[in-house]
Amino acid sequence: MDKNNMPRHVAMILDGNGRWAKKRNLPRSLGHKAGADNLKQLSLDIIHSGVEVLSVFVFSTENFKREQAEVDYLMNLFVSMFQKDFKVYLKENIKVLFSGSREHLKKEVLDAMDEMAKQTENNTGGIVNFCLNYGGRREIVDACKKIVEEGIKASEITEELLDQYLYQPLPPVDLLIRTSGEYRISNFMLYEAAYAEYYFTDTLFPDFKMKDFELAVEAYQKRNRRFGGDHNGN
Ligand code: FPP
Repeated sequence: MDKNNMPRHVAMILDGNGRWAKKRNLPRSLGHKAGADNLKQLSLDIIHSGVEVLSVFVFSTENFKREQAEVDYLMNLFVSMFQKDFKVYLKENIKVLFSGSREHLKKEVLDAMDEMAKQTENNTGGIVNFCLNYGGRREIVDACKKIVEEGIKASEITEELLDQYLYQPLPPVDLLIRTSGEYRISNFMLYEAAYAEYYFTDTLFPDFKMKDFELAVEAYQKRNRRFGGDHNGN
């Protein structure tokens, strides 16, 4: 992995917690716990490797369709991780952002999110962006609503303007990783990942460690990013 050519913004779809638990005859909830514990160390390692922004898909707008017990477990896990484990970001100078809709989230979840964001808002050593109750289509719809509410004229709407109305002001995604052998983007970062490189691995998320991340970055660094131009750099 070439430390001088790191992707600025990495997005990750953290998939496979359920299968990880099933393989061990454990309840799905323990797969999510293992995934959350893994995310704590992995996110620190990724930021320390020189990545500026790490966006992680921890709960999609569609995940509310899961069994109530699983949704409740995940929500409680978010609260407890934001109140305890992820406090490590404070001393690591990492800023926490959230992308997603606030609709349908309980007050205690919103409070834990707001507190984490507030406590880290002046940190400058990298960003972890939790995509929680996030959907890419929903993000674009929400951006359109804000644009209309502000009375912006159709002739003033450009790609750059729409970008400014997304949930967070972040650079475009350079590398998008999905674990667990599924080849879909599942409504993640639709606008931001237009020119991202995609990397898929069979590894289930709780088993995905820094050595796996380095393989993804090495694959990314070998690719020839053209952004729609030709092979001569035009
Ligand atoms: C997908 O696995 C994973 C999720 C829906 C949740 C992702 C959440 C975490 C990794 C925990 C993050 C925790 C915090 C506190 C931010 P799946 O359940 O779809 O797995 P499966 O496809 O094997 O069933």
